[in-house]
Amino acid sequence: MNLITVNEEKCINCGLCINECSEGVLKMGSHGPEVIENTRCFACGHCTAICPNTAIDNKKSPLKDQIDLKDFPKLNEKQAEYFLRSRRSIRNYKTEPVSKEKLTKLIDIARFAPTAGNSQGLSFIVVQNRQLLEQALELSIQMLENSPLRPLVEESIKSYRKDGHDSVFRSAPNLIIATSDKDFPSGRNNAVSSLTYLELYAPSLGLGSCWAGLFEHCIGIENSPLLKLFNIAEDKKVVGAVMVGYPKYSYKRLVDRNPLDATFIE
Ligand SMILES: Cc1cc2nc3c(=O)[nH]c(=O)nc-3n(C[C@H](O)[C@H](O)[C@H](O)COP(=O)(O)O)c2cc1C
Repeated sequence: MNLITVNEEKCINCGLCINECSEGVLKMGSHGPEVIENTRCFACGHCTAICPNTAIDNKKSPLKDQIDLKDFPKLNEKQAEYFLRSRRSIRNYKTEPVSKEKLTKLIDIARFAPTAGNSQGLSFIVVQNRQLLEQALELSIQMLENSPLRPLVEESIKSYRKDGHDSVFRSAPNLIIATSDKDFPSGRNNAVSSLTYLELYAPSLGLGSCWAGLFEHCIGIENSPLLKLFNIAEDKKVVGAVMVGYPKYSYKRLVDRNPLDATFIE
């Protein structure tokens, strides 16, 4: 496979593609960049994205699939800070369903998060069936009742047993479960990164989300019945989960966190 194509008329031999390649796939030849070793290319697309002259193409990350950034309005410092800090974990949802199109848009953004060696490797299960979530809630509560976590979640168990209060899925209409191959060591890290993108994007679609940590705990228990309930394949593992829906309320202020704890070594 001819991995890289260089348009010699357009190439100005600036070497940016070579400097940018983290895997040392390219070197400068007499007619511009040349491939030294194409098996190391992991399709990050940096070589094509950085070229000032659209002179280089890469079969693993084709130029035709890249979006021109020249008209992208960059957020200023304050806008970026407010955008990041205004994401909230949503724990009260409207019952209104979210369309498949919108959910697809939401999970599609997760593909663009950074992953180890651009390995990606995630699949998503999108649960739109609230009745199924009610079944998962009952199973989760049963597991929490017998879990070492019980003292921490006693109140959640009690309020579920008393009036059906859902502190596992927060009565959200949807759950997004990220899975990877069982033997994929980067699955969890890649899921955290990808679901963070999803959570940050959700408010732009009018949606809210919240990490479903209690559910993750329950589905992670050996032989958890939740694996069967959600049809998790034998060779897959659950590496992350978030609930999603339309938020019932909006926030009026940005919250604060612990003071910054950082050490600079100069
Ligand atoms: C790994 C992880 C698991 C979490 N699990 C739950 C959960 O099971 N239920 C819940 O209501 N919130 C859960 N959260 C949300 C956190 O409680 C929340 O991020 C934190 O309180 C800060 O609030 P904020 O996200 O609104 O800034 C989880 C967050 C993370 C990162």
